[in-house]
Amino acid sequence: MKKIRRKHNLPPKLYDVLVIGSGAAGLTLALKLAPHAKIAVLSKSKLHAGATFHAQGGVATVLDSHDSIENHIQDTLRAGAGLCHPNTVQFVIEQSQTAIQWLIQLGVPFTQKNNQQYHLTKEGGHSHRRILHVADATGKAIHQTLLQHAKKCHQIHLYEHHFAIDLITSHKLHLPNNSCWGAYVLDCKKEIVHRFLAKFVVLATGGASKAYLYTSNWDQATGDGIAMAWRAGCPVANMEFIQFHPTCLYHPYAKSFLISEAVRGEGGKLRLPNGAPFMHKFHPQEELAPRDIVARAIDHEMKRLGLDHVYLDISHKPKSFLQSHFPNIYQKCLEFGIDISQQPIPIVPAAHYTCGGVAVNQQGQTPLKRLYAIGETSFTGLHGANRLASNSLLECLVYAHTAANDILKQLHQTTTFPTVPPWDESQVRESDEDVVINHNWHELRQTMWNYVGIVRTTKRLKRAQNRIQLLKNEIHEFYHHYKISPDLLELRNLITVAELIVESALQRKESRGLHYTLDYPHTLPQPKDTILTPQPKSNISPNLP
Ligand code: FAD
Ligand code: SIN
Repeated sequence: MKKIRRKHNLPPKLYDVLVIGSGAAGLTLALKLAPHAKIAVLSKSKLHAGATFHAQGGVATVLDSHDSIENHIQDTLRAGAGLCHPNTVQFVIEQSQTAIQWLIQLGVPFTQKNNQQYHLTKEGGHSHRRILHVADATGKAIHQTLLQHAKKCHQIHLYEHHFAIDLITSHKLHLPNNSCWGAYVLDCKKEIVHRFLAKFVVLATGGASKAYLYTSNWDQATGDGIAMAWRAGCPVANMEFIQFHPTCLYHPYAKSFLISEAVRGEGGKLRLPNGAPFMHKFHPQEELAPRDIVARAIDHEMKRLGLDHVYLDISHKPKSFLQSHFPNIYQKCLEFGIDISQQPIPIVPAAHYTCGGVAVNQQGQTPLKRLYAIGETSFTGLHGANRLASNSLLECLVYAHTAANDILKQLHQTTTFPTVPPWDESQVRESDEDVVINHNWHELRQTMWNYVGIVRTTKRLKRAQNRIQLLKNEIHEFYHHYKISPDLLELRNLITVAELIVESALQRKESRGLHYTLDYPHTLPQPKDTILTPQPKSNISPNLP
């Protein structure tokens, strides 16, 4: 066996706080902590890579005088189909204005309708206009602002192309009192595995939509934080609730491009190829029904008529309106030969958002001591069985603030780091079959799309489970015998996440929100979260939201 000798035994990097993820959640938390702590922020890719940068519609918050916090709470609960945790919903929505004010103070240039008032748009499930936005590229503007501030902060060390492989826990070091001490991190450029040790570790790694063949997400949304937390013994909740966005551009070369729900908010109609609208047959709110209902209606019509796609039509609006409200979407569609002021846009639903995740309490703490999870990777109870549009950037901000405050209270405690052995790859060799990784990626994503999609059955889920088990064995074999690479690490995480999604879906014997199964078409009277706990693992006790 060829032994690989690389310098993995460099001294550990010591921090107060290790933040894994440089999206809205990770950067917000880092900025809140920065005056008081030394922080490492990791991104497995470029610093701007992630869902945040691609967010279009905006951030939900109550600013209209006809609207109220209570309306926003009720809309969130209604979209969540009875499964939201009311305390969490109230907490997040009551904090929304503070969180938004903080962004405004940092300089996020939210679109204004005049010098005194912000322009608010509308999205599915919202009873009022309450989406604050920066044209149709809100995430980019928020991310650029956060990053600009983080770069100026000498207490924040930004590491791009640094891939967290696994968490370092007392349990794995055979020490008592299980607690999280950091992570093994692959420097993807130098191919060295570092030990990052910290008093507190925060998972802010985003979602797992890449488990599906068609997704609105960036290429690396592979649920790494969920898989790492699971391997470290943390419970994971409600993974069956994968949100499919109703309107992704259907074009052979338009990979993952979203057509914002705000287009429907401004009057966009869904139409069949013959021009007929159809949403009135499915819900009184038509195009602005909650997202699960719109995606299911499109899926239904596509299957009924054997279509590859349906259309979203906003061509009745003046070109100048479209160019000013949706400059990004207008331009992108034009690049694909679609003038949205003249013709309807071909669209399909695609996997968009992971409503479940690592279970945390209201401070963002996982049950594993010193480990927090925030943003899309976490499960807070806010979204229930279906996330209300534009509530997720809000959740990133609010939980980053609350987790930062909780960490601040404990920073003064003296900490002695345990001795952590360097990464050992003396038993592995170079892979001679990298193509297997690509094949397994494709097979997994195709399996999830075919059998664990918008409409499910127990038979299809079991079929997926069997295939996932075979793939899992192969991937683990690969992981234990061959040198690690980012692709292999992502595939290893994705197979874990896929297994959790299927297991959760099989446990839910009803249809609710995003989980719709032909075998159990009704909703049970008593809403219940699906909580999976790794067995047998550490002795951590559940401390759930
Ligand atoms: P992300 O922004 O996804 O960041 C994840 C970070 O973790 C990245 O820096 C990544 O490099 C890093 N990372 C991941 N794994 C590792 C690892 N193993 N090691 C090191 N680093 C790692 N929500 C709204 O509220 N409003 C919207 O308008 C909206 N529009 C959207 C449009 C699109 C196209 C998409 C895909 C999503 C949209 N969402 C929207 C959802 C929202 O953007 C995300 O839920 C949110 O941005 C997630 O932020 P985050 O900080 O949790 O993660
Ligand atoms: C969109 O702009 O449609 C995305 C909004 C969201 O996912 O919250």
